[in-house]
Amino acid sequence: MDARVLSEAYLGELAPQQRRKVQRIIAKAEHVLLLARDYLDLTRIDTLSPDPQFHEVADFVAEVMEPAIEIGGAQLEDRNMWITREFPKALLHVSCEPELLRIALGNLMSNAVKYGKEGGEVRVKVERTRIGVRVTVWNEGPGFPAESKPRLFRRFSRLQTFETKQVPGTGIGLYSVWRIAKLHGGHADAESEEGQWAEFTIEIPQPPGTLDRDTMESFLSC
Ligand SMILES: Nc1ncnc2c1ncn2[C@@H]1O[C@H](COP(=O)(O)OP(=O)(O)O)[C@@H](O)[C@H]1O
Ligand SMILES: [Mg+2]
Repeated sequence: MDARVLSEAYLGELAPQQRRKVQRIIAKAEHVLLLARDYLDLTRIDTLSPDPQFHEVADFVAEVMEPAIEIGGAQLEDRNMWITREFPKALLHVSCEPELLRIALGNLMSNAVKYGKEGGEVRVKVERTRIGVRVTVWNEGPGFPAESKPRLFRRFSRLQTFETKQVPGTGIGLYSVWRIAKLHGGHADAESEEGQWAEFTIEIPQPPGTLDRDTMESFLSC
């Protein structure tokens, strides 16, 4: 973005006050982008969810996981963080709605980078389970208190812990993750050791289950 070129002095040194102003413009622009992306994702989920079209993805890691890491992990280098991948050696065929799963996993990735420890590790694991496929995104960082866990996946819910409340956000990402997991008949979960790490998982049964009409309607109206 042009403002970054200015702030990084490629077009000449800025006075400290000018640099602070440009940095504020960048932060505002990034916030608007983040807002737009979260709300567009929500619209996408609403559009696709009444009639999810599950289909077989031949290489889950290449077609879903890596694009999600690419989108969600865009700030990884800025925060000097590093990523470890624990992926199955064999090709993983997965029946799913790939567009929605890329949104969900991209959100878990971006949270790991946003709330993780600067210079810390992010670990992404993909595995087959008894019921289907599970993705785990783990990060070093402040995590969250156990009593906050029920609030994490609620719409517009953001924790007010000292470390996380300074990071801009909408409280939509984990709600999207939860809805996308449910649409596949699966579930999402979170664990943390406060002050040490946080871990988020999404598990999708194979084949994915669809919700019955009543559950679907109550789910769409929330
Ligand atoms: N990896 C994480 N470590 C610590 N807290 C997290 C993590 N991921 C999410 N959270 C907490 O859950 C809240 C909700 O996350 P999310 O729905 O993605 O919204 P947003 O990122 O826009 O705030 C965040 O505001 C933060 O308080
Ligand atoms: Mg988020």
